Amino acid sequence: MLICNVVGARPNFMKIAPIVDELQKRRMPQILVHTGQHYDANMSRVFFDELGLPRPDVDLEIGSDTHARQTARIMMAFEDVCREHRPGLVIVVGDVNSTLAAALVAAKLHIPVAHVEAGLRSFDQSMPEEVNRVVADHLSTLLFVTEQTGVDNLRREGVAAEKIHLVGNCMADTLLKHAAVAVERAPWMDFGLMPGAYTLLTLHRPANVDDRDVFEPLLAALSSVTARLPLLFPVHPRTRARLDEWRLPLPANLMLVEPLPYLAFLGLLAKARLVLTDSGGVQQETTMLNVPCLTLRETTELPVTLESGTNRLVGTDAAKIEDSVRMIMDGAWQTGQRPPLWDGQAGARIVDILAAWSAGQP
Ligand code: UD1
Repeated sequence: MLICNVVGARPNFMKIAPIVDELQKRRMPQILVHTGQHYDANMSRVFFDELGLPRPDVDLEIGSDTHARQTARIMMAFEDVCREHRPGLVIVVGDVNSTLAAALVAAKLHIPVAHVEAGLRSFDQSMPEEVNRVVADHLSTLLFVTEQTGVDNLRREGVAAEKIHLVGNCMADTLLKHAAVAVERAPWMDFGLMPGAYTLLTLHRPANVDDRDVFEPLLAALSSVTARLPLLFPVHPRTRARLDEWRLPLPANLMLVEPLPYLAFLGLLAKARLVLTDSGGVQQETTMLNVPCLTLRETTELPVTLESGTNRLVGTDAAKIEDSVRMIMDGAWQTGQRPPLWDGQAGARIVDILAAWSAGQP
């Protein structure tokens, strides 16, 4: 049976890597399809190179567009891929538009779908990712879950227990594989920084950067960080476009740089004094690395990072950011524990289940 792995955007690449690797080891037939949702070299190709992912067998080169147009174009192109290659299973990961589009196409062609990182819910329907997650889950035959809350959410939504598999976290697999090398490379030196003596920011959610009345005060609120330590800010293309458009005032000590490759970013995360982010992946990575994380959102789909990890939700509230920064600098932050099954073996568990499942297919 041919397995078709689908990726599209930056956070997908580290999630698919351990699965592709494990399928390869067991010589299970697979193809890798890149939708081209992300296409800049530093948002896409560099991740393939660093993670040792094979070149995609098919690159749909869809690029950027409105949600409906991007999703529709991926669907049209991916339908042709499915008709040509006739996979017995389509694997989608995460919650980006490519995830939803590929899952919909496969389901309509009666090809079973496996969703990796299933069951996560922010309960905020205004996030495009929440819509993508819910739909992808309900189209899937195999749902691979990273934390217990994901299982609970799916059961509450009526998904049959036998479809749900708590397997751990593929991002954690990738992180554990690469963390030592990433730190050895000392990426902070490229920016004139010292380990433990800088902070790191990522920001790209439409809710934070597409509304000037939110983005401008948020940038101002970062001065409680920059007053204490340099703040390195690899800028996502969406965020860069808003900064250029509005020419917003930036706090001194905020260092804007291009999006970073995986290993440089991971090394920087590992030795940051604290991290501010609105990304999902970074909340998981800081919990793995036991680095304090302030999430610039009101909700998270990853409650385990709050309960046993190093994460705290601060929204865009300047006072909450300031209080949290003070606590971290005073050494009064919670220490993180790695959640159960975030142990580097999620990819192997998933492929064990796939192998058993495919043996039972006609
Ligand atoms: C997408 C995902 C989001 C994920 C993020 C990681 C959806 C709905 N959102 O958001 O969940 O956290 O990726 O980065 O799928 N652009 C470039 N070059 C690129 C890619 C994007 O210049 O390689 C610019 C384009 O102007 C584009 C904008 O960034 O319009 C947004 O890209 P898009 O893929 O639509 O969404 P992201 O904000 O990246």
